[in-house]
Amino acid sequence: MKNNRVVSGMRPTGRLHLGHLEGVIRNWLRMQDEHECFYFVADVHALTDRYEPEDISQWSFEMIRDWLALGIDPAKSTIFVQSHVPAHVSLATLLGMVTPVSWLERCPTYKDRVAELGSGSENLGLLAYPVLMAADVTLYGADKVPVGEDQVTHLELAREVIRKFNARFPGARLVEPQPLLTSSPKLMGTDGRKMSKSYGNTVELAATAEETQKRIRSMKTDEARKLRTDPGNPDHCNLYPYHAIYSVEQTGEIRQGCTTAALGCVDCKKILMDSLDRALGEYRARRGTISDDDVRAVMAAGARRASAAAAETMNRVAQSVGMVLPE
Ligand code: TRP
Repeated sequence: MKNNRVVSGMRPTGRLHLGHLEGVIRNWLRMQDEHECFYFVADVHALTDRYEPEDISQWSFEMIRDWLALGIDPAKSTIFVQSHVPAHVSLATLLGMVTPVSWLERCPTYKDRVAELGSGSENLGLLAYPVLMAADVTLYGADKVPVGEDQVTHLELAREVIRKFNARFPGARLVEPQPLLTSSPKLMGTDGRKMSKSYGNTVELAATAEETQKRIRSMKTDEARKLRTDPGNPDHCNLYPYHAIYSVEQTGEIRQGCTTAALGCVDCKKILMDSLDRALGEYRARRGTISDDDVRAVMAAGARRASAAAAETMNRVAQSVGMVLPE
């Protein structure tokens, strides 16, 4: 028997990069064996971004191919696309009936997003983002939700919404999930800022070895190290955290070489290129063997499994709020 039920989603906002791999997927992989996991592509959530429709559908599809290539295993976990299980949206509507608008307006991520997109960008979908998240997780009775720090306030709000719903409709018996704060090594983008597609500083997983080398060559290192003969400080270098993950066995000699100026940044980057090639080799090879039909089959089976689990919750919720069942 597996311990907990775990639910987590990822928005399809572009091709997967190393930040996704180290920040999210590594934890998902670790949890597969111990828990009953539901992993989904949060395509409805992605609609709250600026986007082109054909991009989202392609990114959703490729996201599943990437998950499979990285080892998320459909025999262990339920892998699906959020919009394939319409109950997410239905439940969000019902949760909305008890959610004070003021709670949502106070949410820092909502305010940030509106500030970013400009006035006039306020809309119900964006406002209700945490309500949809509440539906995502409680639909499957998740007790644990692995999230990064940036999602903690969303989950806190989601918990309050669920609590309020249970208080008003005790028959719903919705499970209030606990956040599972996942510690992950901080990998910054190639320019030293947070790794994000919008900054153009990512290292994409599906990039060719040549493209990856180009990205690494462009990486910022210790800025105080002006000359090849200057000693460097790995703790001020953007590259070193990558070595700590991908060149674990060489970190001692890299640190030593850097601080004594025996190793230059160009050669240090070459070491990382080799390490990354090794780390991503298996993923790249596997990715090439996963056909479109394979992806479609996984999506379809996942949607069936998720829908069955969701239907149990939805029946209970519908009855608890006073809806008459169709049969
Ligand atoms: N909002 C999350 C993010 O941007 C994605 C997400 C949607 C999610 N629904 C979820 C994560 C439910 C965990 C549980 O990263």
